[in-house]
Amino acid sequence: MDRDPDAREPETREETSVSTHYAELTEQMEMFGGDLLACHFGLWGPDTSSDREALLRANHTLATGCDLGPESRVLDAGCGVGGTAITLAEAYGVHVTGLTICEPHVAVAAEHAEQRGVGHLVDFRHGDFMEMPFPEESFDAVLNHESFCYAPDKLHYLRGVYRVLKPGGRWQALEGFRSDAPISEAQQVIHARTQHGWRMPPLEPWRDVIATLEEAGFEQVREQDLSSEVAPATESLRKRWQLFQFLIPSGGKFSQASQEFMDATVNYDLGLQEGLFTYHFLSAGRPTRGAAP
Ligand SMILES: C[S@@+](CC[C@H](N)C(=O)[O-])C[C@H]1O[C@@H](n2cnc3c(N)ncnc32)[C@H](O)[C@@H]1O
Repeated sequence: MDRDPDAREPETREETSVSTHYAELTEQMEMFGGDLLACHFGLWGPDTSSDREALLRANHTLATGCDLGPESRVLDAGCGVGGTAITLAEAYGVHVTGLTICEPHVAVAAEHAEQRGVGHLVDFRHGDFMEMPFPEESFDAVLNHESFCYAPDKLHYLRGVYRVLKPGGRWQALEGFRSDAPISEAQQVIHARTQHGWRMPPLEPWRDVIATLEEAGFEQVREQDLSSEVAPATESLRKRWQLFQFLIPSGGKFSQASQEFMDATVNYDLGLQEGLFTYHFLSAGRPTRGAAP
């Protein structure tokens, strides 16, 4: 397994907040994935032949089963610079609200939406998804594209999602999780470096989240392990970054935030290969009637 021999202990580095970290990553996020503005991994399938197709496939996988159409209202919780929201608006004609804790990303995402001709279908808001700033029963679907991992209290977050979903609405997520496997000391370092570079709380075992969804009152809870579909994307990013580091050990023009972010990506890939992490599609419905438990 390729490990970074210059690995620094995460504790020795300065810790910025999630919003500051992502603000510093803006340029990278606008470049990554080209016009798709993706800050997530692609999903490779039998018919996928490029990174772009894999990123698009991820967006469509996230929305699978939501039955989206022009009447649908969608919340993209933790929307980054708007890639998923814009792509879904273009593809399905849906109204999407993107919520981000990173204030500068609101204007960046809105500008891209205008340029892409879907400014009338999407709106971006600054806010914390832990305190959902929306009235009850606002959305047909709430989506988390690699952002649910940022919720420090999953039950509290999912109760908020339940509240803003219309009865019969769905919550869906594409995310990295922990597996059930016991974690070794070396793997604790992998986990800590992944957490640090992405500025997120510890990854939760996906199985615990299934139980939390049920506790929050969701039904029709489904899971699909997509680790093998994401692995080509994570592996390719790791190898490209490691080659870049070999050629330009100083990190070149990459900011400290970008280097830490890529260090997390490398470590996530290592953890995925070792079976420490998984990549899952999770989906759950708010019942059509009845109050939250
Ligand atoms: C890995 S990025 C994913 C961005 C986007 N979903 C995508 O796929 O391109 C994680 C995003 O979650 C956002 N985020 C993290 N914690 C949040 C919170 N408490 N409330 C709202 N957004 C949050 C970050 O600002 C960042 O944009």
